Order: sequence, then C-alpha cells, then structure tokens
Amino acid sequence: MLIEHDQLRHHWYVVAEVFDLVAVATEVDGVHMTSSPLAVRLLGVDYVVWRSTNGELVAAPDRCPHRESPLSIGTVADGCLTCPYHGWKFGDVGACVEVPSSGAGRPVPPKAHLPVVHVRERYGLIWVCPGDPVSDIPMMPAEDDPRYRRINSGVDRWTTSVTRMTDNFLDISHFPYVHVGTFGLEANQDVPKIEMEQLDADFFGYQYEVEVGNTVGAASSGIDADVITRRMTTGFHLPFTVRSTIHYETGLDHLILLCSSPIDDVTSYFTFVIWRNDDFSVPGEEVITFDRAIGAEDKIMLERVPGVLPLDQLATVSVQSDKPSVEWRRQLSTLLGR
Ligand code: FES
Ligand SMILES: [Fe+2]
Repeated sequence: MLIEHDQLRHHWYVVAEVFDLVAVATEVDGVHMTSSPLAVRLLGVDYVVWRSTNGELVAAPDRCPHRESPLSIGTVADGCLTCPYHGWKFGDVGACVEVPSSGAGRPVPPKAHLPVVHVRERYGLIWVCPGDPVSDIPMMPAEDDPRYRRINSGVDRWTTSVTRMTDNFLDISHFPYVHVGTFGLEANQDVPKIEMEQLDADFFGYQYEVEVGNTVGAASSGIDADVITRRMTTGFHLPFTVRSTIHYETGLDHLILLCSSPIDDVTSYFTFVIWRNDDFSVPGEEVITFDRAIGAEDKIMLERVPGVLPLDQLATVSVQSDKPSVEWRRQLSTLLGR
C-alpha cells in the first residue's frame, strides 16, 4: 500500500481550508465563543483539528486517551476541546487540562495529553505533517506580492489515488480529450519535446506554449478571442504538489497550486489555489468557475480509473509526452526508498 510508506508521514499535506474552521464558529455578542472541531483523515489516520486559546491550530489523532471517543464529535469552547463522553478537556498544544471526575485542581495523568502532530496555516489552507517535517510547504512568492490576489476554491474529496492525480496534473497530452468541454482543442494533439528543469527553488518541471480554446474561459483570461496562446510552466514539489503558471500576452499571470493529499490509497483531498495579478474587477468566484470546470473534467476521468498508479515505470507504458510524470515517479520512488 502506498500510504504505508513511513517516508510519506514526514511531508506536509492540505487537509482543509482555514475557512472550514471559521465557518462553524459561533459569535455570541460579538465574541468568538465556540466552534466545532474538524474531523480530517490523512494517510489512513483520523485527526481532529481545532483552534486553541492562543489562536494556534492544534491537530491530534481523533481519539480520546480515556476511552477512545472521537474528539471531533466534541465541542470547542474558549479554545478548549471537550470530549463528549466524560468531559475531559484539552487546551493549548493538546494538553489535558481537566478531568472532571477527579475533582478540581487534581493533577491529570501524564498520558492524558494528546500526541499532537505538526499543523500550519498557509495560503488559506490547513496543512498537517504527521511525522517530523523533512521539507517545507512550497513557496508561492505571489502570496506576499500586493499586485496579486489569492482565490481559494474549497477542499474536495476525490475517489482516486494521489498518484493518479499528480500524474494527471503534470500531463498535457490529455487536454484535447478530457478538456474539450473547457479549454482543450481537438486539433492540438501533438506535444512538443519536453525539457525538464529546476523551475525555481521548490518546483521541478517544464516550460511550454499551448494554444487553448477561450470561448468558455474568457472571464478568466480577460481576452476576447476564440483561441489564445498561453505560456505555461508546470512542475512538482514532492510528494504530490503541482504548480502550473499561465502567462497571457496581456501580462496577466494566473498561478495555480494543485494540492492532493492521501486520505487513503484510493481517496484523496483536492484543492487548488489561484494567484492573479489582474485588476481585481472580476469576482473571485467567477474567475475560478472556469478552473473548477477543468478540475471536474479531471475528476470524472480519474474516478473511472481503478487503483493506484504503479510507481514501477515498467508496469505502464510511457511515451515522450509523459516525461514529467516519469521524472516525478522516479523522484517519488527515490523519496520512498524504492
Ligand atoms: S472517552 Fe473521552 S473523556 Fe472519556
Ligand atoms: Fe486535466
């Protein structure tokens, strides 16, 4: 099983949007009083995520140390997570701060504290690393550039493997087939020779030009033409993050971070984040309608392909247009010690 590789535990994965926590918060007289903890699943393990008293996120296995109730069905009040079964309370960094049946002021058993895991907020996303991080969340410099705005899309669940998703996001030869409903051009089947290079400190990939249909995506490109040329780069950051950058001749940059996280071998979280240096006039929701439609086309295709994409290169046939995926699988295999 892919998810049983211990090496995968030491990397960062998106499990939710920050908004997913905020959305369930309750305001009482303008004061943030309670929220529901989030239940997420990563690499086959259930986690609970909540915001503690100091505003920091806490993530821990979704299991109460007392009698194993899921903590995600508990409640959060004033930054403390309360287990719904016997009311044990957990505070900052998962410390057990109260065992009601023991009476006030009694020390709590040392093993009552939660074995928290690394959790961070970046790009409006909640990232979890269950082990000791050996790499960082990839850098998107546009995040700190005031000429760019960020648009988040929400976290979706796909019934497919992260390996199939990453392979797909690195691949342009499926555009004329899977994406004819959005930007793919049926006539545009040849893929020029691909040269792989280090695109920047965090992404390894390739540069290319592609002609795409623009009838559906005019709001996103800001150009009024049926067919337009995009200058693009597509690259990966191990294990499963892909970034595509699109440069239009108008000077518009449209950057897409595609994050795939293994819930288990054949179920994954998917989210994409966009940064654009446009004039901010088109509402974000309208801009991402086009990218959502493209993602939906990929999802329909991938959910019809069973199982995990084998990392053994000989198990599938690859051609020159598969070079990015072949290189990603080679590097992923090295990371996994295979
Ligand atoms: S199971 Fe959580 S307090 Fe008893
Ligand atoms: Fe696609």
